[in-house]
Amino acid sequence: MKILVTGGLGFIGSNFIRHILFAEKNIRVVNLDLQTYAGNPENLKDIAGDERYFWVRADISDPVLVAQAMAGCDAVVHFAAESHVDRSILDPGPFLKTNVIGTQVLLDAARAEKVARFIHVSTDEVYGSIPGKHRSTEKDGLFPNSPYAASKAASDCLARAAFVTHQLPVITTRASNNFGPYQYPEKALPLMITNFLEGKPYPLYGDGLNIRDWLYVKDHAEAIAFLLQKGTPGEIYNIGGETSLKNKEMVARVREIMKIPASMVTRVPDRPGHDRRYALNDSKLRRLGFKFKYPFEEALAQTIEWYKAREDWWRPLKQTGGYAAYYQKQYKKGTVPFSRAS
Ligand code: NAD
Ligand code: TYD
Repeated sequence: MKILVTGGLGFIGSNFIRHILFAEKNIRVVNLDLQTYAGNPENLKDIAGDERYFWVRADISDPVLVAQAMAGCDAVVHFAAESHVDRSILDPGPFLKTNVIGTQVLLDAARAEKVARFIHVSTDEVYGSIPGKHRSTEKDGLFPNSPYAASKAASDCLARAAFVTHQLPVITTRASNNFGPYQYPEKALPLMITNFLEGKPYPLYGDGLNIRDWLYVKDHAEAIAFLLQKGTPGEIYNIGGETSLKNKEMVARVREIMKIPASMVTRVPDRPGHDRRYALNDSKLRRLGFKFKYPFEEALAQTIEWYKAREDWWRPLKQTGGYAAYYQKQYKKGTVPFSRAS
């Protein structure tokens, strides 16, 4: 089997490629990745010499290069995206080009290539902010609130249209917040851990009471490999893990493991339109037979250990001019405290 993976130099895509090459001996992987600021060949350095793996540097919104890369592939697993909410608020343009146009280009190419499966990797953020005790099911409506979430919701609709109109065998997955090795240090958890390792404060948005479901990236990679085999075309599957934590609670757990004082958390002004709560019901995936493997506490501790051990991976990323410029813009004058977190 030959699969085209898009966005394989990113956080989840690289964890998926590593997993699938390990789990399936008779697989070949073409990784189509533009290597944006979030794409890093270092993420797959350990498998770069594997003859079953090949990286094509191209933009998913380029129909010619996409068709070439997809030639002879049996399946597509589509991770490539602009993925950071805060960047989408600063500048939504790249999110529309990659997440919306790029997805349509891939769907068209997959139809021409007559692939047997197309896994469209999406997010719980398309459901919007979830009130009360409800957990989003796949039947719930789409109420995206950030430009990122809106672009992903649009891509979900395009994936659905390709199935209904053209019978392209698309499966859409909607995962909750991932954490684990190789996550670019702009997202909450790697930012928190690496700032603490650098002796810098972590900027907590607003009152810190926003709730996220946390999913270990290795469980996510395994769930996608499972759905590639067992999922039904035209269906949507939530992938959650069901570990819900307030942001304040997450920081407290990380501080406890790393032995960091509360004074190292600074409150900064809230993210505009900050969704209060995401929560997924993933019983549809569990009913199909998927079992989450990694207990949250162990996975969190291992993740912290990984960032401690891999300063060689994250320090160069934080030292680039692009990272510094983004950090300055996002957090204004660095991490000037707005008020101390209680
Ligand atoms: P990431 O930002 O770490 O990686 C994105 C990858 O896509 C990078 O390697 C980048 O180079 C590549 N890319 C970006 N634009 C491209 C383009 N135009 N053409 C080709 N390649 C391009 O993202 P991630 O966190 O690994 O997320 C992967 C997917 O999972 C995304 O679709 C995202 O929406 C979804 N998702 C992420 C999370 C999460 O917590 N990170 C949760 C749910 C769903
Ligand atoms: P993030 O990792 O950006 O994921 P998402 O917004 O897609 O859920 O953020 C996770 C949570 O952490 C979210 O509620 C926003 C919050 N957050 C902070 O409090 N401070 C930060 O510097 C960042 C990046 C996020």
